[in-house]
Amino acid sequence: MNDILKSAHSGWRYVVFILLVVAVINALSGWLSKKPYTEGNRKLNVFTLVSAHIQLLLGLAVYFLNGWYKIDSSVAMGRYWKMEHISMMILAIILITVGNSRSKKVADATAKHKNIAVFFGLGLIIIIATIFMMVKSDPSRTFFGVS
Ligand code: HEM
Repeated sequence: MNDILKSAHSGWRYVVFILLVVAVINALSGWLSKKPYTEGNRKLNVFTLVSAHIQLLLGLAVYFLNGWYKIDSSVAMGRYWKMEHISMMILAIILITVGNSRSKKVADATAKHKNIAVFFGLGLIIIIATIFMMVKSDPSRTFFGVS
């Protein structure tokens, strides 16, 4: 069960990543070219949000089931897995959640696209930076490697 959750969390990052990249590109193009906010845009953004929340649940399960909170944080690898991964990724997921919610609250199509582009974009940057930090702090991991 634990191995399934670990592999699911490891592989699901690609679902989150691809949806986020597509959603950010769409939102940027909608914002800058003042396009209408379509039902397709809304669905894409909701799927992206849901994929990030699924990743959060998988991450929390792996974190607590494997006792990552008990690891020695005096070394870089321990600090990364005990605190940095979880806090940075949760921050990214909060930004994605706020962006989606703000896009629902405003009426104007350009403002909807702008909220998605800014908040999802920041979330994406944080996720990529955190995976770079992972490769630096834990030499057993690779940027694209799925375990
Ligand atoms: C969008 C959010 C997230 C992404 C993209 C992500 C991505 C990743 C990646 C790429 C790995 C390394 C997998 C490997 O080397 O095979 C990993 C491992 C891990 N993640 Fe996340 N993560 C996210 C959120 C979270 C959250 C919120 C938590 C905790 C609450 C978490 C806990 C963990 C743990 C404990 C591991 C180590 C698993 C192991 O190998 O035992 N992750 N994550």
